[in-house]
Amino acid sequence: MNHLQFGVDYYPEHWNKNRWPVDLKMMKEMGLDVIRLAEFSWSALEPSDGQFTFDWLDEVLDLCEAYKIKVVLGTPTAAPPAWLIEQMPDIQPMASDGSRRYFGGRHHDCQSHPGYREKIIRYVTTFAKHFGKRECVIGWQVDNELGNSHGDLCYCEYCEKRFRQWLENKYENIDALNENWGTTFWSQGYQTFEEIHAPKKTASGHNPSQVLDWKIFHSDLINDFHALQANIIRSYSKDRFITHNCMGFSDIVSYYDLAKQLDFVSHDQYCEGYWKNYEETTVTEENHRQGIFPAAELDFIRSLKKDNFWIMEQQSSIAGWEIMGRTPRPGQIGLWSMQSVAHGADTIVYFRWRSCPMGTEQYWHGILPHSGKPGRAFYEIKALIQRVKPLMKEIKGSLPKPKVAIVYSYEQNYAMQIQPHHPDLHYVNHLMTFYNELHQNNVPVDFVSELEDWSQYSLVIAPFQYLMGQEQEQAYRKYVKNGGKLIVTMRTGVKMRNNLCLIDEELPGNLQDVLGVQVNEYDCLRKNDVAVTLNEQKGYGSKWADILTPTTAQTLATYRSEFYAGQAAITVNHYGKGDAYYVGTELDSTLMHHFLAPSLKELTNLPQTPAGVEITSRENDNCTYYFVLNHRDEAMTIDIPQNWTAYFEDQDSSKLAPYSYQIYFERKNHG
Ligand code: GLA
Ligand code: ZN
Repeated sequence: MNHLQFGVDYYPEHWNKNRWPVDLKMMKEMGLDVIRLAEFSWSALEPSDGQFTFDWLDEVLDLCEAYKIKVVLGTPTAAPPAWLIEQMPDIQPMASDGSRRYFGGRHHDCQSHPGYREKIIRYVTTFAKHFGKRECVIGWQVDNELGNSHGDLCYCEYCEKRFRQWLENKYENIDALNENWGTTFWSQGYQTFEEIHAPKKTASGHNPSQVLDWKIFHSDLINDFHALQANIIRSYSKDRFITHNCMGFSDIVSYYDLAKQLDFVSHDQYCEGYWKNYEETTVTEENHRQGIFPAAELDFIRSLKKDNFWIMEQQSSIAGWEIMGRTPRPGQIGLWSMQSVAHGADTIVYFRWRSCPMGTEQYWHGILPHSGKPGRAFYEIKALIQRVKPLMKEIKGSLPKPKVAIVYSYEQNYAMQIQPHHPDLHYVNHLMTFYNELHQNNVPVDFVSELEDWSQYSLVIAPFQYLMGQEQEQAYRKYVKNGGKLIVTMRTGVKMRNNLCLIDEELPGNLQDVLGVQVNEYDCLRKNDVAVTLNEQKGYGSKWADILTPTTAQTLATYRSEFYAGQAAITVNHYGKGDAYYVGTELDSTLMHHFLAPSLKELTNLPQTPAGVEITSRENDNCTYYFVLNHRDEAMTIDIPQNWTAYFEDQDSSKLAPYSYQIYFERKNHG
């Protein structure tokens, strides 16, 4: 089904139809063979209630068939039209303070609203029936970036009603809910489920257990919203795939759950960041510049199905809404594409074909500038496609083979958002302190959920295992017992899965014997860093310090300042056939480097490279392909192992221009 390598997101409804054949011809000449269409076209396809105007899209598809361009169709529920909002204004989502978010942008929808859901069922049924069997249609995307702009969720009465049903399903009776939420505190006891509301803005504070359930409920709601549409599509458009354009570590909806509904996962990759709200993003610009954060997101996306994926939107020029990011440097668009391929993407779809004259995204530029005339982006992408298309066909289905995994958990992340402990403590950033060091040493990384089988990994890093359940604890115990190396970090086992604190036991709870430590005291460091030494190496821990008392563990690093100077900061415990590490604080890069260094050799056979130069590999039964990626603004010379052969004959063996890539391969010896 998926034989395509390059494509583009196209919005024919923004342009006069005389232009359509011109565009498609140019796309074909560039080597693009798939387009995504219609994910924001509701008002153009159903301009008034029940009146469908599919003709124009049929014409576009006729042209696609003539030009042999394949199509991924989107459903338009990220932008319900004005007539629908006028009919049912309470579709507009309610913010936590009771105010509405109104029509005029996008994502102005409550996904619980029963009347809205009826209109969606009618639209998607009519749409899928009409287009689902067309020759050029190969697949579908439901909505667009589900979870995007639903960050504040919706607190309306329909959502509250569904929330109550969800709670009743989970707890069965109100006493169980009261117990799990600890409602004796501040007189919050409930007599019936009817008394429960969405956690709207209060005079002061919130119940952390309620808010955790609310966040999980919303993730489930969005998954249900997806299923509603996906089921219709599957019955009218058989043998076509359904994928979704996910957003890396965006956390509103669990992609682990969503991935189960998809044939393969897709990801939207804007390596320069999202320039409407860049100030608010939590990753550093340096991380972006050196390609580290984008690499982590790609690894996460691949890990959802442990399989190849598509990039459904790749930045193709300047990104920006009200403010703009920098223009991609010469070569950089191709570098980003090859980085995605290096981490497991088999298809790259660029966002978008042409910069458009109107709307919020006037300055979110496309391959073609406003003029419609090919410029630098066009020629760079065209050259890239011609160069790498045969390679991409050859490597299709090959994958990186990591021996280390980092645990990423939506629920731990939610719990930390609810109570960050320290104003700058951030789940993804904390996890990135480990990823950064691994990435800088060219160690391939998978991400895993808390309860999947980890036995294929020799090292599992499970940062911030704050919520601990019985099943999870058993899985961690078993992994170490059978010979795994497990690293956990501060605040492990502090709470139960219902977000109530563990009582009657020392921390880290039931994993004490596996980890061989107790945490009897801790310190929120506020603005003070704490000095730490690890084998003579001096560095600092920040934000938080768990003060460790080894029971059976050995001390690897020690605090050197504060009243707990001399006490353990990092420990290791031999348990069963494996080792369990506890890291009590957020390590700076020096400490992290020395902490992970002894483990790295067995985790990668890729050569070391300077910061900003990345090497990643993909392999199949016959061959390993190496991607050398220079994210720096200067030329770099890299020592390439002798047994690697340059893939491109014209490739100068070791000198990489700024923002460029090289590819090598090594055949496997089956003798
Ligand atoms: C997202 C969306 C696109 C577009 C781009 C640029 O990734 O999926 O529709 O809005 O961002 O903002
Ligand atoms: Zn709602």
